[in-house]
Amino acid sequence: MSAPAPIPPADITYMPGTTSNPFGYVAPMPKHLRESYLNFFSARFACANAKAMAHYHESMMGFRALARREMEKDRNRGLCAEVVQNGKITLEFVAPVMPAHREEGLKISDEEYEDLESVSLFLQRHGEGVMDVVFEVKKCKELYDWAIAHGAHSVAEPALRTDVYGSVLAATIRTYGDVLHTLVERIDYSGCYLPWYKPVETVVPINSDLSHTVPFVKIDHCVGNQDWNQMEGVCKFYARALGFHQYFTDDDYNVTTEYSALETTVMASENEKIKMPITMPAIGKRMSQVEEFVRYNNGPGVQHLALLTEDIVAAVTEMRRRGVQFIEVSPQYYVDLRDRVRDYHGPPIMENLDDIEALNLLVDFNKDGYLLQTFVKDHISSRPTAFYEIIQRRGAQGFGGGNFRALFESIEREQARRGNLHPHSGPQSQYPEEEKEGENRGRRRERTAHAAKQD
Ligand SMILES: [Fe+2]
Repeated sequence: MSAPAPIPPADITYMPGTTSNPFGYVAPMPKHLRESYLNFFSARFACANAKAMAHYHESMMGFRALARREMEKDRNRGLCAEVVQNGKITLEFVAPVMPAHREEGLKISDEEYEDLESVSLFLQRHGEGVMDVVFEVKKCKELYDWAIAHGAHSVAEPALRTDVYGSVLAATIRTYGDVLHTLVERIDYSGCYLPWYKPVETVVPINSDLSHTVPFVKIDHCVGNQDWNQMEGVCKFYARALGFHQYFTDDDYNVTTEYSALETTVMASENEKIKMPITMPAIGKRMSQVEEFVRYNNGPGVQHLALLTEDIVAAVTEMRRRGVQFIEVSPQYYVDLRDRVRDYHGPPIMENLDDIEALNLLVDFNKDGYLLQTFVKDHISSRPTAFYEIIQRRGAQGFGGGNFRALFESIEREQARRGNLHPHSGPQSQYPEEEKEGENRGRRRERTAHAAKQD
C-alpha cells in the first residue's frame, strides 16, 4: 500500500467578520442552533481487534454488549464493529477486516471503502484510540452547514440512514488532528444503536451477576490534547464552527508540578452537557504529559474520557475486583485531605474517608459541593496515550483542579518509569519572566483577558 496523503488540518484560522472569541464571549452561531446539541451520543474507537476491545470493556469495565456490525453478503465488507453500553455511555469499536486498497471483484460500496480507508489511516498514524466523538443533535443539516461555512472540513455530508427500525440523519466533520465529530439526529429511529447494527447479548459471565455492576451514568467530558501553542486556535474553532462557548469553573487551568506543566480551556455546548476540555503542554522542567501524549499519538487526539457515576465507591470497588488498576496517590494526600475536610463547609460528604483512602480516590471541593475522581492506570491501547477517568459529582462542576498536583505527580511517576520524563522539546517561552518554576499559575488568565480585548 502506498503511503497515504496527509490529511489537511481543520481550518482554524480566524474568520473575518465574526466575533468568535471563545474567552467569555457568546459564539456567533444563532441560539436556536446552539441549543440543538443534546449530548454525547457515543465514542467511536479505531481498533485492530474490535472483539478484543469490546471484551475488555465488558469483563473489566462492566459494559454490556449492545450491537454489532459484521460482514454480510452485500454489506459491511470493509469494517466490523462491536458496540457496548453502560448507562448512557455507548462505545463503538470498529476494525478493518481487509487491507484498504481496491481490488477487482471486491463487493464494497464507495461509502464503505471511504470508511475503511479512514479507519485504516487512523490506525496507521495513531494506533488504537478515539477517532470520532459522536454528538446527538436536533438539527444535523443546519449544524453541518454552519460548521462548513465557518471553516470545518467535511468528511461526510448529511445522509439519511434507514433500516426497519426507522431513520437517522448523520454528517461528519473533522476537528483537531484526525479526530472527527459525527452529528446524529434521530428522525424516528427505535433500533438498538444505529441502522444496520444488529442487537447482541453480552456473553461475559461476570456481567451476568447483577449484584456486581459498575454503575456508570454518562460521559462527563472528553479531553483533547494539542501540541504546543495550539489550544487557543482549537478553542476558537469550537466557538466559531460548532457554536460552543468557554465553560468557566473555579479551577486554575494552568498547572505546574515540579517537572511538567499544561494548560486547559474547557469548551462546552449551549446546554453544557457536552464538555470538551482542550489541553496543551506548558513550559516545565521536563516533558509535559501532554507532550508525551502528542508524541506517542503522532499528533493531537482524545486523551481521556471521563465516565460519570453516582457511586464511585461501588464502581471502583467492582472494577478493582475485576482487575482494573488505578493511579496510586501518596498517603500524605489523605493526611492533607482530612485537614481540607475540616475547612470545608459545603454539602455534607456522604462517603467514608477510610473508603476514599483505601480506593485511592481524589476529592476536590468548591462552593457548590465536592467531586470524587480517579484515573485508570493502564492506557486503553498499548501506547501511552488515551485512558479513562471515573468521576462522581456532588454539586461541584469543576474538573478536580485541586487534585491536579496529586494527579500529575502520580502520572509523572508512571512517565518516569517509561523513561519519558526527559526535557521538553517545546518552544522557548514567549513569557520567560512568567515561566520560571512555580510562577505561571494564574498568569494565563490575565493574558487571555488581554488577548480578548485585542480581538
Ligand atoms: Fe478529566
